[in-house]
Amino acid sequence: MSIDKLLSPIKVGSVELKNRMVMAPLTRNRASQPGDIPTDLNARYYAQRAGAGLIVSEATQISKQGQGYFAAPGIYTDEQEAGWTNVVKAVHEKGGRIALQLWHVGRVSHHLVQADDNQPVAPSAIRAENTTAFVKHKDGSLGPIPADTPRALETRELPGIVKQYVSAAKRAKQAGFDMVEVHAANGYLLQQFMSTNTNHRTDQYGGSVENRVRLVMEVLEAVVAVFGADRVGIRISPNFVGFDLKDTEAEASSLYLAKELTRLGVAYMHIAEPDWAGGEPLSDLFRQKLRAAFSGNIIVCGHYTAESAEKRLERGQADLIAFGRAYLANPDLDVRFRENAPLNKPNVATFYGGADEATLTIRHSMAAQPKPRWLIDQ
Ligand code: PHB
Repeated sequence: MSIDKLLSPIKVGSVELKNRMVMAPLTRNRASQPGDIPTDLNARYYAQRAGAGLIVSEATQISKQGQGYFAAPGIYTDEQEAGWTNVVKAVHEKGGRIALQLWHVGRVSHHLVQADDNQPVAPSAIRAENTTAFVKHKDGSLGPIPADTPRALETRELPGIVKQYVSAAKRAKQAGFDMVEVHAANGYLLQQFMSTNTNHRTDQYGGSVENRVRLVMEVLEAVVAVFGADRVGIRISPNFVGFDLKDTEAEASSLYLAKELTRLGVAYMHIAEPDWAGGEPLSDLFRQKLRAAFSGNIIVCGHYTAESAEKRLERGQADLIAFGRAYLANPDLDVRFRENAPLNKPNVATFYGGADEATLTIRHSMAAQPKPRWLIDQ
């Protein structure tokens, strides 16, 4: 089958992309310690994948408070910014384009991965059951640990959360990123605000759809003011059920958000489909409504093959397709697709932690996690 559309160029916002393949954000837990700083290894890893039209970086915490996993990278110190500058340079030298994903985990965290053993924060003080953070224990060992009960953010603290996104976006701009993607998916802070079971607030950030989406829009407006709407995207995951998230109004809030993002002129919406973490598949009707509500580009992500990706594009339900695991095992995925060459199978043992194949470090303690973290036996 021809995959001409998938391999054809597209302009997303003001950024010209050489094809419609996106490398999905993939957590690797291999930032250097102490300090959660991207290294030359990260630069080489991303540069190897520069054949993608757009790379979305692994989720990157915008503050220490936004961290839930040991050795995930940050974008809130000078050293982290310098590390990312090195990554961006390496990708650009190979002709690639890269967005930084801005991340705050909210309640999917634990005091051992916070500053000063602080309690993690969330819209409401509701613990994520069957959910683990990943920490360094006081004895130096690494491991998963049940997420803490968070404390509810005070209304007066929310401008401070927006500021964290602004500072991170400023650093991303200084580091040379082509775009930024606000992570409002997969059960982390911004989706916790949107979801009915995690947001029980009684202020103007809780209750109605409009109120639950309010913080997300404040973050987007602020990030757009830094980066320009034509270089800002957002990732959402309607119907996501991981990390104890159950949103009974996911479609309504996604569609309201899509309309608001159109008003802002945001470049793209990136939809993590529920097949990765479980949850009801997105209906055709919902896809159509989303298309109608949002005027920017739509990226979808979720176990696509070259063929199913092309079909989704042909049906007009998306403009770009993101690939995750396939990019881990096949850095040259675009070439393999073009040549219809066989694909390497992803090696689950190397997903999290570690360095490159030759210098295994923390991977040994983190590798044997074939299942998503919220399903790990505790
Ligand atoms: C993870 O590290 O398990 C993780 C990180 C970011 C996501 C989803 C999962 O969006």
